[in-house]
Amino acid sequence: MTDRLVIFDTTLRDGEQSPGASMTREEKVRIARQLERMRVDVIEAGFAAASNGDFEAVRAVAEAVQDSTVCSLARANENDIRRAGEAITPAKSGRIHTFIATSPIHMEKKLRMAPDQVVEQAVRAIGWARAYTDDVEFSAEDAGRSEVDFLCRVFERVIAAGAKTINVPDTVGYNTPEQFAELIRSLIARVPNADKVVWSVHCHNDLGLAVANSLAAVMAGARQVECTVNGLGERAGNASMEEVVMAVRTRGDLFPVHTRIDTTQIVPASKLVSQITGYPVQPNKAIVGANAFAHESGIHQDGVLKHRETYEIMRAEDVGWTANRLTLGKLSGRNAFRARLQEIGIGIESEEQLNAAFARFKELADKKQEIFDEDLHALMSDETVTPEDEHFKLVASRVHSETGEAPQAALTLNIAGKEHRTESTGSGPVDASFRAIEKVAQSDAQLLLYSVNAITTGTDAQGEVTVRLAKGSRVVNGQGADTDIIVASAKAYLNALNKLHTNTLRVDPQGETP
Ligand code: KIV
Ligand code: ZN
Repeated sequence: MTDRLVIFDTTLRDGEQSPGASMTREEKVRIARQLERMRVDVIEAGFAAASNGDFEAVRAVAEAVQDSTVCSLARANENDIRRAGEAITPAKSGRIHTFIATSPIHMEKKLRMAPDQVVEQAVRAIGWARAYTDDVEFSAEDAGRSEVDFLCRVFERVIAAGAKTINVPDTVGYNTPEQFAELIRSLIARVPNADKVVWSVHCHNDLGLAVANSLAAVMAGARQVECTVNGLGERAGNASMEEVVMAVRTRGDLFPVHTRIDTTQIVPASKLVSQITGYPVQPNKAIVGANAFAHESGIHQDGVLKHRETYEIMRAEDVGWTANRLTLGKLSGRNAFRARLQEIGIGIESEEQLNAAFARFKELADKKQEIFDEDLHALMSDETVTPEDEHFKLVASRVHSETGEAPQAALTLNIAGKEHRTESTGSGPVDASFRAIEKVAQSDAQLLLYSVNAITTGTDAQGEVTVRLAKGSRVVNGQGADTDIIVASAKAYLNALNKLHTNTLRVDPQGETP
């Protein structure tokens, strides 16, 4: 018998702190449903006090999810904790995750609080949180650079106050595996009431060690790992969920733990998160990269054909590579379409929504013979955009490109309900389209990134475009998909402009004093 390792997924919170990766309420609910299908134990759905939109998103996830615990982050102050408590109220099982920094540099320079004040604030925070739920997690932010004696003091007090999970974050990704394991081992040995709680770790990847540090901590006694799909997260990201889960499963001979994750849902989750956030997955990424199970050299191919385990330590189908492939085609009917959407976790709210989505599906099936799950996700991403989110909309586009001539784009846009025609030349058809849009939108935004990926294989595949725009301190990602990549590019640009247009102000959870 091995211990259960609790998988705490923070894609919707720390993952969302990646530049431009902020998600709408509907997008969070779609990802949360997939995380639930994957049997993640705890879903950190957001930071409810950040804005009204964030509060609503955490609440919507709490309403939608049945099988996983839904958690909100809260700084150690009464208002944040009240917002978190209210947001998780509909959850069948809800958690509040409160935190305060404990390293000398954070206490002195960021919080401007004395260590004794930090201890008292942490204890008070647990009391406030327990008014909403018994499931309270406490994090000592920047624990990786905190003094062990001080951590022991804070942890003993918050456990006595009723915290049920103690999280030890390596907030700036500074630790190395041996050192981090030693920290966890000594905390568990030295905190007198350590046996009353689950010990958790939350590692950042600044030195590329987030997964290694998390796994070393598991060997030292941690029984919860905080992680994200595709390793998304603040700066260089968090420990990647798929790597942690597959490491403990594949090396069950070493790790004294098991998870309850349905690993066949890993690749679908990875694709969904990538599609929604606009963060592509590098081809050589472990587990979920397109090449993770591809054998290029003849010797390897030969070996795998003779006996698969010569070069494979995991089976591609066990992480979901073969599941969810070919799905629907031109002749598929409405019921098959609805059933497949349900199977891949896309909820349809009304008959009107189903009809509109089915019409768009038929349009796509006319252009493309085989429709895959990835196509359905892209199609439904467009479908869940509400009219309030769509200040700028593409009505029509005509692009002319000929060798030796400057490419030209003529677009018709609907801006706040009024049609505008606009045209421009450019160095290529995409550049011409973006210039044409800017002529009327005049956003003044700076283009930080433009990337195109084929959603599936084949030359009839939909191109999925990501556009990252910056304006002032705001960075947003826009996505667009179409079999015509110029149209996909224009849609992505307009999607980013729409996100800038909503102008929601959010509090950065780790950027301010409580
Ligand atoms: O990295 C960090 O310290 C965090 C905490 C809020 C847990 O994200
Ligand atoms: Zn973090």
